Amino acid sequence: LEPVPSPVQGVGPIYRPEAEKPAATVSKAVSYDNVHVLPQTPQLIALLTMIRDKKTTRADFIFYSNRIIRLLVEEGLNHLPVIEHPVTTPVGRTYLGVKFQGKICGVSIMRAGEAMEQGLRDCCRSVRIGKILIQRDEETCKPKLFYEKLPSDIAQRWVLLLDPMFATGGSATLAVEVLKAKGVPEEHILFLNLIASPSGVADFAERFPSLRVVSAFIDQGLDEKKYIIPGLGDFGDRYYTL
Ligand code: URA
Repeated sequence: LEPVPSPVQGVGPIYRPEAEKPAATVSKAVSYDNVHVLPQTPQLIALLTMIRDKKTTRADFIFYSNRIIRLLVEEGLNHLPVIEHPVTTPVGRTYLGVKFQGKICGVSIMRAGEAMEQGLRDCCRSVRIGKILIQRDEETCKPKLFYEKLPSDIAQRWVLLLDPMFATGGSATLAVEVLKAKGVPEEHILFLNLIASPSGVADFAERFPSLRVVSAFIDQGLDEKKYIIPGLGDFGDRYYTL
């Protein structure tokens, strides 16, 4: 897919007249039932603006990415099943609520995906976290699995797969294949990412129709080096080393 400009629309509180809202680039819409894009709120757009800016310092990049990661995790959890759960309040009344059904775990694709682990821990106390290291094979230029360490009962868990930049989807595809080979049903996998490319999303949605993707933003496309554009550069470098 050739990069196509993303839509520009007025961003601001809904009660503001359109003409008074500043224009900003928002996510492309997606037409796949299993791909969910976060609501393009003023807050999300402001956070994304911070992390896309090449002048943003590493400390700010970490701080603002962590805020977006928290939004993604909170939305991701909405896709897990809940069951009825009535409780009695301190004033003796019943409140009919729900509670999560089933066990979860996180799986981060190293290194950038590890940046999303704390956001998951902040929402799910003592959550188990597995790791997968995938790198490009020098000879074949294809993604290759170098290391995996996953909870032994992963087949019985819902898996939140973590990788911030969903470009070609090569690493994520291999990671999903590893999870499926361990017995995790495709419909129990949720892939959380900050910025996705339209081609990555389309390829994934067709390859894994029962898996859900939760993304903060679908960008314009990829450049010749397979970086997402406009993107934010190399997420791992900006979070860990720059
Ligand atoms: N990984 C990144 O960190 N950035 C991109 O743009 C694509 C993949």
